[in-house]
Amino acid sequence: MTACIVGWSHGKFGKLENETSESLIVKAASEAIAHAGLEPRDIDVIYVGNMNGGFVRQEFHSSLPLQTHPDLRFKPSTRVENACATGSAAIHMGLNTLAAKKARFVLVVGVEKMTELNSTQAGEVLIKASYVAEEAAIEAGFAGIFGKITSAYFQRYGDKSDALAKIAVKAHKNGAKNPFAHFQKEFAYDFCRTPSDKNPFVAGPLKRTDCSPVTDGAAAVVLADVGTALGMKQAIAFRAAQHINDFLPMSKRDIIKFEGPALAWKQALAEARLDLLDLSFVESHDCFTSAELIEYEAMGLTAPGEGERAIHEGWVERDGKLPVNVSGGLKAKGHPVGATGVSMHVMTAMQLSGTAPGALQLPKATIGGVFNMGGAAVANYVSILEPLR
Ligand code: COA
Repeated sequence: MTACIVGWSHGKFGKLENETSESLIVKAASEAIAHAGLEPRDIDVIYVGNMNGGFVRQEFHSSLPLQTHPDLRFKPSTRVENACATGSAAIHMGLNTLAAKKARFVLVVGVEKMTELNSTQAGEVLIKASYVAEEAAIEAGFAGIFGKITSAYFQRYGDKSDALAKIAVKAHKNGAKNPFAHFQKEFAYDFCRTPSDKNPFVAGPLKRTDCSPVTDGAAAVVLADVGTALGMKQAIAFRAAQHINDFLPMSKRDIIKFEGPALAWKQALAEARLDLLDLSFVESHDCFTSAELIEYEAMGLTAPGEGERAIHEGWVERDGKLPVNVSGGLKAKGHPVGATGVSMHVMTAMQLSGTAPGALQLPKATIGGVFNMGGAAVANYVSILEPLR
C-alpha cells in the first residue's frame, strides 16, 4: 500500500453550457480540498488531467487550479495527458510524487470541456489518439476505431449485438441512479438493440447507444501517503496501481485480445494478492459497449470470446457476482476524456466509504477495481482500492 485518496469531488457531467474548463477546475479543486479537511496552502503539488488537443482554445491548463485560492500561487502544477486514460495518468503522477517523498498532499484534477464542438468535430480531435499514420482515415472518429475492433470480434466469435445492447441497458439502468451522470434515464432493450432514426449505426456494428457521449465535466482527488492518511477524515488506499502501455498501431497487435489491459489486470491482482472475484465491484472503461465486452475477458471474468456470458448470465449487473459500472460507466455517466479516470476513482472511493448518493450506494463495497484505458487498449491503468481502516 503506497498512498491513499483522502478527499474528492465530482461535478455533474453533461452538456454544461455555462461552464468553462477553468470554472470546472476551480469548483472541483476547491471542493476536493475542503472534502479532505485541508486548506489550499496544505497542497504541495498539483496535476491536471486534460486531454484537450483542440476541444477548447485554452490549451495550457496547468495553472488554472491556482485560480481557486491565492495560497495555491507558486505551487508546482503540471498538465498530464495520456488519451482517454489521462485522469489515471495524472493520479499515477501523484502516486509517484508521494512515493518519491516530494509531497505530503497532491491535488489531482481531471477536466474536459468537449461540447463546444459538435460530435463530428469532437471525433476529429479524438481520432488523433489513434496511430494517425495508419488509422486516421477511418471514418466516424474514435467510434470508427472501435467499429473496426467490434467487426473483427464479431468475425471471430459471431454477432454479439444482443450482448452489446444488454450492456447499454445495464449502463443506463445504473446511470439512472447516479445524480452526476450525463444521462439519468433508462433505455429499453429493444431501443438499444434495433437500429432506428433515434439509434442509427455510427460505425460498423456500433449504434449510437453503443457509444459513450461527448460530455463536459470535472472530478478531483487529494492524495496523501499512508502515514499522513491515517490522521485524515477518510482514507481510501491503493492496494495496487499498475500501468501498462502497448504498441500504438493496431496493425502490430491482435486487437481483439486487449493484451495490455489483461496484463495490467494480472499485475494489479498479483500486487494486491487478490483474485478478481474478491473485488466487490469494478469501474471499467466502456467507451463503447464492445470495449466493456472485451474487458470482461481481459480482466479474467470469462475466457476469450465468451465475454457475453458475463452479461447474459447477470454476473456484471448491480446485484451480480461482480457488478461492473454501477456508476453508469462512460456510456451513461459520460466520458469527458481528461476527467474520466479521476471520476472512476471518485466513484469507487464513494462506494468504499459508503457515501455514494442515495440509490447509487452498493450494499456491499469492500474492495473496488478501476480500469481506465487510453486509445484502443494502448495506455492501460488498473487500480485496486480499499478503505485504509
Ligand atoms: N448514447 C445515447 N444517446 C445519445 C448519445 C449516446 N452516446 N449521444 C447523443 N445521444 C442522444 C442525445 O441526447 C440526443 O437525444 P435527444 O434527441 O433526445 O435530445 C440525440 O442522441 C442526438 O444527439 P447528437 O449529439 O446530435 O448525436 P450525434 O449523432 O451527433 O452523436 C455520437 C452521437 C455517438 C456519434 C457521439 O456521442 C460520439 O461521437 N460518441 C463517441 C465519443 C468518443 O469517441 N469518445 C472517445 C471514446 S475513446
